[in-house]
Amino acid sequence: MPCIGCGREAKTEPPDFRCPSCGDLLELVATGRKPDRRSLLRQKAAFGVWRYAKGLPFGRDVEPISLQEGGTPLVKSASIGKELGLHELYIKNEGQNPTGSFKDRGMTVAVTRASQRGAKTLICASTGNTSASLAAYSARGGLKAVVIVPSGKVAAGKLVQATVHGARILRMKGNFDEALELVMGAVRKNPALYLMNSINPYRIEGQKTLAYEVFEQLGGRVPDYVVLPVGNAGNISAIWKGFLELKSWRISDSLPRMVGVQAAQAAPIAEAYEKGRDYVKPWGDAKTVASAIRIGKPVSWKKALRAIRDSGGFSTTVTDREILEARGQLALKEGLFVEAASATPIAALKRIRRVAKPRSTIVCVTTGNGLKDQESVKVDLGEAPELAGGQDLLRALA
Ligand SMILES: Cc1ncc(COP(=O)(O)O)c(C=O)c1O
Ligand SMILES: [Zn+2]
Repeated sequence: MPCIGCGREAKTEPPDFRCPSCGDLLELVATGRKPDRRSLLRQKAAFGVWRYAKGLPFGRDVEPISLQEGGTPLVKSASIGKELGLHELYIKNEGQNPTGSFKDRGMTVAVTRASQRGAKTLICASTGNTSASLAAYSARGGLKAVVIVPSGKVAAGKLVQATVHGARILRMKGNFDEALELVMGAVRKNPALYLMNSINPYRIEGQKTLAYEVFEQLGGRVPDYVVLPVGNAGNISAIWKGFLELKSWRISDSLPRMVGVQAAQAAPIAEAYEKGRDYVKPWGDAKTVASAIRIGKPVSWKKALRAIRDSGGFSTTVTDREILEARGQLALKEGLFVEAASATPIAALKRIRRVAKPRSTIVCVTTGNGLKDQESVKVDLGEAPELAGGQDLLRALA
């Protein structure tokens, strides 16, 4: 596992997945025989993460702890694209994963790895979806899950999921960034805890399969733009890695521009991009209705800035009002109900239209299912009128 900062190899797997020399992130890189098109895109295997086993860091004898994650639909936009003059707009609907978010892609791989290592107790800090996913995959693998969530800042549906799957939930006063620091401190001190945040490079390995899938779903083409919400910045790094691998293995011959979208009041990465900085200044007080991306100190900032700059993409922000409006548009015009964070790519389309061509292939990644995050819906849908018994329905409808 080389370090993304100093390049030194970590010989063993450190409990905090940080470089023992400089403290930067570690990355998994493919060794041995490079997969080719036939071995990576195994046509007979089911569509999903483990179809791409040849691109994952396991030997032949791996027994995945899996709920058949991935293989999510790539839905062509019915009307939002046309209205904006974007004729090749697609929505990669990650809300259709087993626990309703893209986190399942990374979780199947990281829980499989944890089980191989003999880990018993898996731990993460979470804005909600990671804890739901960790809880489900731990249950599946017969492992214990501990999740630390910032008090009052996680959508109730996600906590319901963590609860039913039997995770031990600890709340903490403070924000996600503080919760993650707490978890990092704990895994360094107690080797019985296995870290499951996206600092764990096995998570990234699973999440990168979205790139392989989109490539296949477009009939062996790489999109011109991939647009996605950015919080802790693991996912944008993962998807970029997937596309880089396809190209380096000569399976594809181009790369997409990566567009990272943040909420206006939780936007340290967009700020660094816009100011041309090569570092990210943490935001102490990140705020947004999109609780999944309410993150002020993104762990994978360095990889994210590289993905954005190396790809010729950009990072931008959208306001909470734009986010809720975009979620409404997706629901009303496309039939897709996504959570607030997942509507950020659609909210950013007006800006993308300024640089994209009408025939550019644009893939918006909607990262999580709307059913988990209902608190914010009341704000924009209001209450339905209540009919009294015996009231004339036709008159009420008039
Ligand atoms: C629905 C949803 N979208 C986006 C993100 C952000 O992903 P990342 O932290 O990898 O940038 C998250 C993270 O929790 C999420 O739950
Ligand atoms: Zn290092």
